[in-house]
Amino acid sequence: MMNSSGVAVLTRGLTVVRGGRTVLRGLDFTVLSGRITGLLGPSGCGKSTLMRAVVGTQAEVTGTLEVLGRPAGDAGLRSRIGYVTQAPSVYDDLTVRQNLDYFASVLLPGRARQDAREEYVARAVADVDLTSHADSLAGRLSGGQRSRVSLAVALLGTPEVLVLDEPTVGLDPVLRRDLWDLFHRLADDRGATILVSSHVMDEAERCHRLMLMRDGEILAEDTPDDLRARTRTETVEAAFLHLVDEADALQEDAR
Ligand SMILES: Nc1ncnc2c1ncn2[C@@H]1O[C@H](COP(=O)(O)OP(=O)(O)OP(=O)(O)O)[C@@H](O)[C@H]1O
Ligand SMILES: [Mg+2]
Repeated sequence: MMNSSGVAVLTRGLTVVRGGRTVLRGLDFTVLSGRITGLLGPSGCGKSTLMRAVVGTQAEVTGTLEVLGRPAGDAGLRSRIGYVTQAPSVYDDLTVRQNLDYFASVLLPGRARQDAREEYVARAVADVDLTSHADSLAGRLSGGQRSRVSLAVALLGTPEVLVLDEPTVGLDPVLRRDLWDLFHRLADDRGATILVSSHVMDEAERCHRLMLMRDGEILAEDTPDDLRARTRTETVEAAFLHLVDEADALQEDAR
């Protein structure tokens, strides 16, 4: 499953304009295969926009953006990428299992026979720990449970790249831990590449690599250990603040 080059996503000069404003400014970065990369930064810095660009749903994208060696949005990538948006998108009047059956029939047309599809669905439901709620209506689930149904949809068909936009928002500490354990199983055991956003800095420690963003730019791209060492700080949060101050000082000097 590992991409031979070891690089799942590669950008050069990635720029995105939204509503007439440049919200991503000439980004150069790589996302390594089989690793969990955390995308962190304050609200509005461009995390969701970057993810939309990677999955190919964002308009007005310029520069180079390759996913698994193909241009983002290429039809051949569709079944190889799983994407969970910030707002869970499930049908409230269907049960958890019916939601997944439906998405399985859309996402895996002809690729899997009925019995194989049922297996995919059962595994995805178990992965997100909703087996005991499989026959509950999605509309009757809690916010955290609904977002896990969305995650299960993204896991159908075992995509090589998972793009997860703030998947742990609103979850209690136990569920957050369980989800991070699942992300590690997917990356470490199944070789999946995971790009996951968060604005909670303590989740950064669970990522293999981090991209720290601010104002449409990437301040740093490194492992949590190297980030702390480089900035001589104890936590990723302190490292982030250090980098923000450094960037501001540079900008002052340039004036
Ligand atoms: N539909 C839109 N039209 C125009 N501008 C938008 C639109 N959606 C977002 N933006 C702008 O793009 C910028 C980046 O937004 P984005 O949603 O990518 O941020 P984010 O880092 O995901 O924030 P959050 O943590 O709140 O989810 C923001 O300045 C926002 O105002
Ligand atoms: Mg967002």
